[in-house]
Amino acid sequence: MYSEKVMEHFANPHNMGELEDYNAVGEVGNAHCGDIMRMYLKIEDNIIKDASFKTFGCCAAIASSSVATDMIKGMTIDEALKLKNEDVVKALDGLPPVKIHCSVLAEEAIKKAIENYREGADQ
Ligand code: FES
Repeated sequence: MYSEKVMEHFANPHNMGELEDYNAVGEVGNAHCGDIMRMYLKIEDNIIKDASFKTFGCCAAIASSSVATDMIKGMTIDEALKLKNEDVVKALDGLPPVKIHCSVLAEEAIKKAIENYREGADQ
């Protein structure tokens, strides 16, 4: 059912846990399955220097969080805002149709964290 890439990220997730010095956090959930994803970002000069996650969810949600946090490291916040769930799915060599919403959580969590950062920066 899952690609090798998904299984790899699920078995050995990258960037798991809370960043010590994060300055942005975004949490999203899916009401259907009840899964929750939280992303922590360390942003400096509009660049995502570091990213991590805590996900209470299925295998696809954990793999999506893992690969998405890898992908956005080093991106500007504008680049990260353009990251789509399809990019996450592609990086995982595909997800079963019923698991596409798990990758949407990753896209939404990144957007929420950046929103959180911008709110803080405006204060
Ligand atoms: Fe809901 Fe995967 S089943 S995030």
